[in-house]
Amino acid sequence: MNKIRAPIITVCGHVDHGKTSLLDVIRGSNIQENEAGNITQKISFSIISKENIEQRTGNLLIKSGINLKIPGFLFIDTPGHAAFTNLRKRGGSLADLAILVVSIKEGIKPQTAEVLQILKTYKTPFLIALNKIDSISSWQKHNTELKESIESQTISASEEFQEALLTFQGNLREHGFDSDLYYEVSDFSKKITIVPCSARTGEGIPELLFVLAGLCQKFLKQRLEISEEAKGVILEIKKEKSMDYVEAILYDGHLNVGDEIAIASFGEPIISKIRALEEIEQLSFKYKGVKSVIAASGIRIHLANKEGVLPGMLFQKLNNNLAELKKAFKKEVSGALDLDKQGLIVKADSLGSLDALMRLLRQENIRIVKTGIGPIGKGDLISAKANLDIDPLNAIVLGFNVDIEEGINVGAQGVKVLMNDVIYKLIEDLQKWKKNRQGEIEKERMLGLASICKMEILFEYVFRNSNPAIFGVRVAGGKLKVGQKLIDDKGDEVARVKSLQHEKESVSEVKEGQELAMSLPGVNFQRRLMGLKYLYSEISARQFKEFKKNKDLLSFSELKILQEIAVIKRRTEEGWGI
Ligand code: GTP
Ligand code: MG
Repeated sequence: MNKIRAPIITVCGHVDHGKTSLLDVIRGSNIQENEAGNITQKISFSIISKENIEQRTGNLLIKSGINLKIPGFLFIDTPGHAAFTNLRKRGGSLADLAILVVSIKEGIKPQTAEVLQILKTYKTPFLIALNKIDSISSWQKHNTELKESIESQTISASEEFQEALLTFQGNLREHGFDSDLYYEVSDFSKKITIVPCSARTGEGIPELLFVLAGLCQKFLKQRLEISEEAKGVILEIKKEKSMDYVEAILYDGHLNVGDEIAIASFGEPIISKIRALEEIEQLSFKYKGVKSVIAASGIRIHLANKEGVLPGMLFQKLNNNLAELKKAFKKEVSGALDLDKQGLIVKADSLGSLDALMRLLRQENIRIVKTGIGPIGKGDLISAKANLDIDPLNAIVLGFNVDIEEGINVGAQGVKVLMNDVIYKLIEDLQKWKKNRQGEIEKERMLGLASICKMEILFEYVFRNSNPAIFGVRVAGGKLKVGQKLIDDKGDEVARVKSLQHEKESVSEVKEGQELAMSLPGVNFQRRLMGLKYLYSEISARQFKEFKKNKDLLSFSELKILQEIAVIKRRTEEGWGI
């Protein structure tokens, strides 16, 4: 039988529910307090060895008769403010298993829901660390096993615990998962295991490690067998001069200094020799230089050539297998290149997060025309702009966990950019924007039929009496377009607008408050317009009804003018527009 590697375990969940603290108590470190603002900013990993697991789980392992075969765990801590979505490998999720950390006081929060959705999409097995049990009022920590501790709490603590647990389980069911406390689960493949714990007191941590180890040994054995092929995924590219390396996870095989690797890209694979390797030390965040590493491990690779390497891309050791690798890589990035003929533009910070975002967008029937990894650039805005004519609802760039390239003026392109580091919020904002934009488009279409407008005649500005009459008006309300037919305050037709001049320029449209010169053919100003105060746009009864149906799209002044026009019309035609 092949050697077994350490399972890769992602720790994920809502911000502040205690992911880093949980790893701290497992590692015996104190990372959380040293973080800027106590917020995890980037993915990090830590290794804990088999011996350490045995020591921590002590009696539990012995009693259950489990003989640990895994060499340890490789834990990945993820920032709560961004999904843990870059963690992909060939054929699915990079994580063999996930710990979803949920604060017992808060239950399922937005980020928890997002993680649940992604775990479901990628079919990643997971268990739940129901953290912060120490914050239950009058909870007592017992130096016994967790089950006994839970069973020997005071009545009030026990009631509070049970209520929180039941509520959480109910909510979890709404997300499609049945769950049970770890000591009540009879079939671990059917139910999600819940391990109550406290990162603060350490209670429940041995049980958490024990259940993790049990699940890994029972369900993941085959998946954990190490093959001959060194495979990994790039997490981050460090560009600083003094630190010129890529951070990566090796999830299969072993890798040596001097090896040549192929890294996937949207084009041809990038080939590079490994100049130096560093590996993360156990229970620590320090790296040490090594000659070779064996999966699974967190590593820094110093590459001879890292031109064009992107986060989330896969790599594999080259072994006279370039042709085969090309095919495999192509398949792997094909998701990100699987585009629709029409759609919006999507950017993300890594291949994995792009993939997750695209999946979730498609679940909402949103089409995608262009994708990319990295900051939003001019090309993305230009692509969005091209959509203005095809479908203005697609004139938008979505950015997940990315910025806009420096020096780019988004406003100049007349397109929308939406950015967020939570996928579901991005999608929510997109839906909101689309709905608004749809309303605006509808209004434009409706107003295309006719403009609602009231004009005050400026008698001191009569430039020409007739053929055509040219004189000044002020737009008292609404909008006026060239070609619009006008009526007077008795409802009699005056003329069709021939041209409009605003500040000496010919314009096709004018808005409320503007003063301009208007030219009307076939009208003699002295005879026809003297004594009138206002002119109105002519609106048919059918158009009136349509405007009325879409009242919410009209401004207050447009609505008022519409009423005035109806009053005028009804003087000569009873029941007009009703
Ligand atoms: P992000 O990385 O920002 O997403 O947060 P996180 O999930 O890593 O949470 P973190 O470990 O930073 O903990 C957030 C806060 O909760 C800190 O103030 C911790 O001290 C506190 N906390 C974590 N675990 C526990 C626990 O078991 N009990 C109590 N009472 N507080 C806890
Ligand atoms: Mg954290």
